[in-house]
Amino acid sequence: EPYSLLILPGDGIGPEVMAEVVKVIDWFQANRGLNFDVSHDLVGGAAYDAHGVPLADDTMARAQAADAVLLGAVGGPKYDQLDFSVKPERGLLRLRKEMDLFANLRPAQCFDALADFSSLKRDVVAGLDILIVRELTSGVYFGEPRGIHSDDNNPENEGGRVGINTQRYTSGEIRRVARAAFELAKRRGNKVCSMEKANVMESGILWREEVQWVHDNEYPDVELTHMYADNGAMQLVRRPQQFDVIVTDNLFGDILSDAAAMLTGSLGMLPSASLGAPMANGRPKALYEPVHGSAPDIAGQGKANPIACILSFAMALRYSFDQGDAAAELEQAVEKVLADGVRTPDLMGAQGGIQVSTAQMGDKIIA
Ligand code: NAI
Ligand code: MG
Repeated sequence: EPYSLLILPGDGIGPEVMAEVVKVIDWFQANRGLNFDVSHDLVGGAAYDAHGVPLADDTMARAQAADAVLLGAVGGPKYDQLDFSVKPERGLLRLRKEMDLFANLRPAQCFDALADFSSLKRDVVAGLDILIVRELTSGVYFGEPRGIHSDDNNPENEGGRVGINTQRYTSGEIRRVARAAFELAKRRGNKVCSMEKANVMESGILWREEVQWVHDNEYPDVELTHMYADNGAMQLVRRPQQFDVIVTDNLFGDILSDAAAMLTGSLGMLPSASLGAPMANGRPKALYEPVHGSAPDIAGQGKANPIACILSFAMALRYSFDQGDAAAELEQAVEKVLADGVRTPDLMGAQGGIQVSTAQMGDKIIA
């Protein structure tokens, strides 16, 4: 049975970095006996140019049927004036929503050779390997009621308006993302830290109770701790190596994962995954993508760093295809190339290195 993989390169540097992933896939097929059924399709501006929509229905159906979707990046100045409903980002949002990808995985991994790129001191981050699991489909970004209303009856309110959002979580939404975090922890350091603000939010109390419930009933052997999210922000910067898996809600996860990203250095290095419920074959619905965007400022120049996209594919190997050894082999190849001083322009820091193009970086990793 081949693994079905839908590749959506998208816009800007998306197709450039994806070309290097395709080389990596071919290598694993030729040298490690893995069998992929790879198909390509359009998303974002590229899909808009072809079909007038940022994600065609047919592409959506293929994404639903695939074992995993690998996406490059969407957007660019050419599309900035488009109507909101057909903006490139809508293509990505439709994928996330219709696939119901509720667990967003953001690893923060610091390769030794790049420790000097971190915002923190080398000894705090060298060898760092943590994973933030952010709930992605609920919480304050979606809760009702929401809106901006007039507050005319309140003469004390200068300006006369009120803005409302609602943090709302059901126990089921919390349990399913907690399960995802415990499952991931079992394959890693066997530790989960759950972050909320149960001291000031009822939704935070429910979050804490439900995560604890899933732990006690289903994962008693995984170590679970709870932390207020503000303290979590401090601890991430103070001593990030104390964490293995962090699980948190949509809003706190947005902020904490961006902060954690800066522990590791360049945007060109950061992979991500978004997972949903298991399909009939037992694999989770899954979308893998680099954290970075389409980088119009460097598109078409062979300067893009393909490592974020390549590491996203490594996550697909591990989480969708159960090929942990292949994933580790790929990550070690990246580590070796970095240790050898091979650098795309974004990684040419104070120490310099051997500057290579996007395609040369891919070739070095394969070598
Ligand atoms: P961006 O991530 O595209 O670029 C930010 C900066 O980082 C730029 O200077 C860029 O050259 C650099 N950079 C990003 N990825 C790199 C890589 N792989 N190698 C080397 N340098 C890299 O974010 P920006 O500029 O805010 O957005 C550009 C476009 O991308 C916009 O249209 C935005 O909407 C879209 N975007 C798409 C995302 C996605 O597809 N998931 C996420 C973020 C932005
Ligand atoms: Mg963010």
